Amino acid sequence: MTTEIESILVENRVFSPPADLMSQANVSGMRGYKALCDEADRDPEAFWARLGRENLVWDTPFNQVIDASNAPFYRFFPDGELNISANCLDRHMGTPVENHTALIFEADDGQVSRVTYKELLVRVSRLANAIKALGYAKGDRAVIYMPMSIEAVVAMQACARLGVIHSVVFGGFSSKSIHERVVDVGATLVITADAQIRGGRTIALKNAVDEALAMGGCEAVRKVITYRRAGSDIGWHADRDLWWHDVIQGQSDQCPPVTVEADHPLFILYTSGSTGKPKGVQHSSAGYLLWSLMTMKWTFDAKPDDVFWCTADVGWVTGHSYVTYGPLAAGVTQVVFEGVPTYPDAARFWKMIQAHKVSVFYTAPTAIRSLIKLSEADPAVHPRSFDLSSLRIIGSVGEPINPEAWVWYYNNVGAGRCPVIDTWWQTETGAHMITPLPGVTPLKPGSCTLPLPGIDAAVVDETGQEVERGKGGFLVIRKPWPAMIRTVWGDPERFKKTYFPPEMKGWYLAGDGAQRDKDGYFWIMGRIDDVLNVSGHRLGTMEVESALVAHEMVAEAAVVGRPDETTGEAIVAFVVLNGPLPQGDQAADMAQQLRDWVAREIGPIAKPREIRFGENLPKTRSGKIMRRLLRVVAKGEPITQDVSTLENPGILEQLAQAC
Ligand code: PRX
Repeated sequence: MTTEIESILVENRVFSPPADLMSQANVSGMRGYKALCDEADRDPEAFWARLGRENLVWDTPFNQVIDASNAPFYRFFPDGELNISANCLDRHMGTPVENHTALIFEADDGQVSRVTYKELLVRVSRLANAIKALGYAKGDRAVIYMPMSIEAVVAMQACARLGVIHSVVFGGFSSKSIHERVVDVGATLVITADAQIRGGRTIALKNAVDEALAMGGCEAVRKVITYRRAGSDIGWHADRDLWWHDVIQGQSDQCPPVTVEADHPLFILYTSGSTGKPKGVQHSSAGYLLWSLMTMKWTFDAKPDDVFWCTADVGWVTGHSYVTYGPLAAGVTQVVFEGVPTYPDAARFWKMIQAHKVSVFYTAPTAIRSLIKLSEADPAVHPRSFDLSSLRIIGSVGEPINPEAWVWYYNNVGAGRCPVIDTWWQTETGAHMITPLPGVTPLKPGSCTLPLPGIDAAVVDETGQEVERGKGGFLVIRKPWPAMIRTVWGDPERFKKTYFPPEMKGWYLAGDGAQRDKDGYFWIMGRIDDVLNVSGHRLGTMEVESALVAHEMVAEAAVVGRPDETTGEAIVAFVVLNGPLPQGDQAADMAQQLRDWVAREIGPIAKPREIRFGENLPKTRSGKIMRRLLRVVAKGEPITQDVSTLENPGILEQLAQAC
């Protein structure tokens, strides 16, 4: 394993937690945090058992806490049984929460609708009954391809209610991506919408599902349920297609939750890795929900009167843990937003925080960075022009937040009184792992600070030795935790190889470079593998390369990330064509064709920002593409490295000129 960790700016500014927040926080002060950490260190099993018993509602209480007999395929609470939808909804019935607003939905055009917990349970039960009536049962797999909506949450919860395993595909992914996931997961049911509306544009969803299912290999899909969102025209297959509003018609508003074992897969979510095909990260039921709920309580200090808003789409893990599951289990009111931060103008987030009196706001650095520029250019859309006094906590997720963006967020959105909670975690970890706690942790801009109680994070070298403070290395987690990935769906070997390589002594290898400072704070330094982070979206370089070489014009392609002020990283593709090297307008035209092609193959988020054509790629004599040098070329920097081992050093100059 090699690491290309670059030294990063280590901040010296420290921001203390606000005294009023600290005095009332669920975890209060460093002493409160340390007490939990000590409890977890002393006896991890007793710690997880206590949390499991106190925070989940069990149908069959567990006796065993961790089954490590087949590590790294850990099981938590293996003999316990429960239902996840009951733990998010039914648990609140008969309590004051039942009449609280569960979801405040704001549509792209600004229309607002609300459902209480009681109403949400009815909606989930009706859909679950409809799905059951169609013959689906525990263990079946459903692909969900829906816009941000109350119905998306209902669809996920309805599956959970029946023990049907869902796999949500982000609405921005192409039909090809849907197809891959439907096939890999062996889906028999698809739940979708006619279209989604974002930024004033209507984007077809059902038609993309039809295209995907026509690609072959999806014959197992018996039914497609379509929610009518936009009133768009859609294709119709009478034997397969059903309208959402038809199937729920006449269904009972009560649906007994199906009891499942603690480790029954709740969902499979595909994420990019170093190899070509995204992998299906399989999550458990009990352990996953426990940690989503605990992190709501600890990281976001969730209280019953909070209005929580996580801006992530349910197509990503953040939208699973902090839209569909964690906030509902915690019983807070939450905002669900269909649109984009810049429509109708860049004040959309601030207007919504003001209108819905949001108290906990959670978004991605890329959104912050794009809004900084727009806000600073126009006082009318600046957060200072809005009443954001309802906020008490502001969070960040998905990519490193640079200190400048952090400080702007803190001063302008949080008005210098709300801690910025920079949460490090991954699809595979299920929920937060390293993060400040709002009533505990002195903050340093750009650092995700300290691990949560029970999370044994460390920075090690390639032999698994812990490195000195101030030195870079690999981020590992040395003990199992309840929300950890259980396996890669259908590929247990890949799971072991990727996350538990032999040199890491049985520890979970996160795939990120990190460094700890003298105070033990963690600073994440980006991926150590060929994974890019574009606007907080995870993409494999191989995935984009495979899409490019699938085009008939392309002989070879290499993809690298280039640092970008707004999107974190931007994709730069170096392409060798089958024909002669194109010039001028022809090159621009071909680059555009290839960008559109990648959007069709994967989705618009994977479009290369830049495509450079060359006669060849820089290769070692053994034929290995030197991506390290391509990264330098992509940044527009001069090559200072030794290039004598290259087969064709002259190619670097050609690619540098090809801008
Ligand atoms: O590189 C890290 C980065 O995002 C990766 C995980 O991506 P994904 O599985 O899509 O999950 C994103 C939402 C949790 C990590 O390996 N990352 C995530 N959060 C942070 C981060 N990098 C730095 N700081 C963070 N707070």
